[in-house]
Amino acid sequence: MFLHSVLFLVLWLPLALAASNYVNTTRSPTTITKGANISKPRCPSKCGNLTVPYPFGIGLGTGCSIDPSFEINCNTSSNPPRPLWDRNLEVTDITDSHMRIKNWVAETCYNQRGNLTEDSQVNVYLPQNFGFSEMNKFMVVGCDDVAVISGTTGRNFTSGCVSICSSKESIIDGDCSGTGCCQTSIPNGLQNFETSMTSIDNYTKVWSYAGCGHAFLGEQDSFTFHKANLSDLTFYNRTIENVPVLLDWVIGTQNCTESHKSNNVSCQQNSRCIDPDNGLQGYRCTCFEGYEGNPYLHPGCRDINECNQNPCDPKGICTNTPGSYKCSCPHGYLGDGRKDGHGCNKRTPVFPMIKFSLGNINNLKSCPVVYSLVKASNLYYDYFEWLDLA
Ligand SMILES: *[C@@H]1O[C@H](CO)[C@@H](O)[C@H](O)[C@H]1NC(C)=O
Ligand SMILES: *[C@@H]1O[C@H](CO)[C@@H](O)[C@H](O)[C@H]1NC(C)=O
Ligand SMILES: *[C@@H]1O[C@H](CO)[C@@H](O)[C@H](O)[C@H]1NC(C)=O
Ligand SMILES: *[C@@H]1O[C@H](CO)[C@@H](O)[C@H](O)[C@H]1NC(C)=O
Ligand SMILES: *[C@@H]1O[C@H](CO)[C@@H](O)[C@H](O)[C@H]1NC(C)=O
Ligand SMILES: *[C@@H]1O[C@H](CO)[C@@H](O)[C@H](O)[C@H]1NC(C)=O
Ligand SMILES: *[C@@H]1O[C@H](CO)[C@@H](O)[C@H](O)[C@H]1NC(C)=O
Ligand SMILES: *[C@@H]1O[C@H](CO)[C@@H](O)[C@H](O)[C@H]1NC(C)=O
Ligand SMILES: *[C@@H]1O[C@H](CO)[C@@H](O)[C@H](O)[C@H]1NC(C)=O
Ligand SMILES: *[C@@H]1O[C@H](CO)[C@@H](O)[C@H](O)[C@H]1NC(C)=O
Ligand SMILES: *[C@@H]1O[C@H](CO)[C@@H](O)[C@H](O)[C@H]1NC(C)=O
Repeated sequence: MFLHSVLFLVLWLPLALAASNYVNTTRSPTTITKGANISKPRCPSKCGNLTVPYPFGIGLGTGCSIDPSFEINCNTSSNPPRPLWDRNLEVTDITDSHMRIKNWVAETCYNQRGNLTEDSQVNVYLPQNFGFSEMNKFMVVGCDDVAVISGTTGRNFTSGCVSICSSKESIIDGDCSGTGCCQTSIPNGLQNFETSMTSIDNYTKVWSYAGCGHAFLGEQDSFTFHKANLSDLTFYNRTIENVPVLLDWVIGTQNCTESHKSNNVSCQQNSRCIDPDNGLQGYRCTCFEGYEGNPYLHPGCRDINECNQNPCDPKGICTNTPGSYKCSCPHGYLGDGRKDGHGCNKRTPVFPMIKFSLGNINNLKSCPVVYSLVKASNLYYDYFEWLDLA
């Protein structure tokens, strides 16, 4: 019986001692569009469906952005209006660290006799402060294609891949490893690239089921190869519309250390400077954990009141703290108070064996190991409170 209650105490100890001051370490979502001030005063913050947070800004020469290369030209002659960046690239998303834009696609087509009927290649330069994210892949969809991508990251970069089909049956949905589809990585910090495509047999051996080859840089997660893509006449347009290119962005011209030295870091309150790992020269600002808002604009990031999301047990008590929150249980309840933890459980004297085996506090003190365990836990109070009642 005595052994039984020791086990009982030991099993409950970790629960009783579990920290209830909880910091969410999950990688934080984008916060730059969540503040009260998203754009500079008197500057619009939306173009159609796109929210445009500072350091980006809407309008050419309006001073709404940090720098001309962050200007978004909102073309209102279409519905919804189209946000255009860097001449004519359509922006679909802006986050704390990335920007998504619509794609460019290189295309070569052949006729049945093997004559080249279409050859449009891609050649793109990004402005300073922007680079192609490593989460993009150079992807080629075709059955007789040797595609090359070349660009500069400071040093010259050339890569490419080959996609060949021996028969229609050899092509497998979802498989982009050289039959009907191939892909290759790009290096960190790539700021421009051009494509070139050639074929081995001018499509003469595959023409019955594939007539064109396509090559593009695109966010890997947003494209899954299907054999139907090979003969789809809308593939070119659909890729431009639906497979975005992911860009990295930074501000300034130097990393945090160097920018601090020249006293030129524009991170506002409750945010810090971070050195990006994307190979670009510059820095970004990010809100402290548990804070949100635009870290580039006065007054900076604000504490998130996590209690609004009801993170605690319905019976629990939520207390917002700077950068975090605490859950606790009301009098008469046990637990850490967290909805995703042990919640709050009504304290009931369901284990009368404690009383019988431990008797009173003097008995308990005669066994130092059990006594210290009990004393270290919440049960100390619960138990003796209950004994008092009993
Ligand atoms: C932690 O953060 C993630 C993403 O920000 C969120 O989905 C999740 O609900 C959070 N968990 C808690 C307990 O707040
Ligand atoms: C864009 O906004 C329009 C209404 O303004 C809405 O109908 C449409 O679904 C939105 N598109 C996207 C991609 O959110
Ligand atoms: C807006 O787009 C239309 C065509 O879509 C074009 O004719 C017009 O010049 C554009 N306006 C601006 C201000 O860029
Ligand atoms: C197509 O190729 C054939 C030989 O391969 C050539 O005789 C013909 O002139 C070409 N036609 C065109 C339009 O290039
Ligand atoms: C990179 O390529 C360009 C043109 O292809 C060439 O002019 C330049 O010298 C090359 N740079 C290096 C560092 O190899
Ligand atoms: C493919 O086309 C090129 C140029 O159009 C031509 O020189 C070559 O002979 C053709 N090859 C085949 C296999 O038809
Ligand atoms: C692709 O888009 C262009 C421009 O929007 C359009 O003119 C063309 O008809 C489209 N092609 C197909 C096959 O849908
Ligand atoms: C590729 O084919 C699949 C299946 O038909 C389709 O859902 C997808 O939209 C196609 N992708 C593109 C970019 O056209
Ligand atoms: C400070 O940063 C701004 C914006 O990035 C830049 O225009 C300016 O040249 C920088 N000044 C110094 C002294 O580095
Ligand atoms: C910041 O830049 C300086 C000069 O380019 C460099 O020496 C230093 O290692 C960089 N620091 C970090 C953390 O990247
Ligand atoms: C928005 O920015 C202005 C100017 O910097 C500032 O005065 C104001 O307090 C900010 N508003 C909010 C709700 O933070």
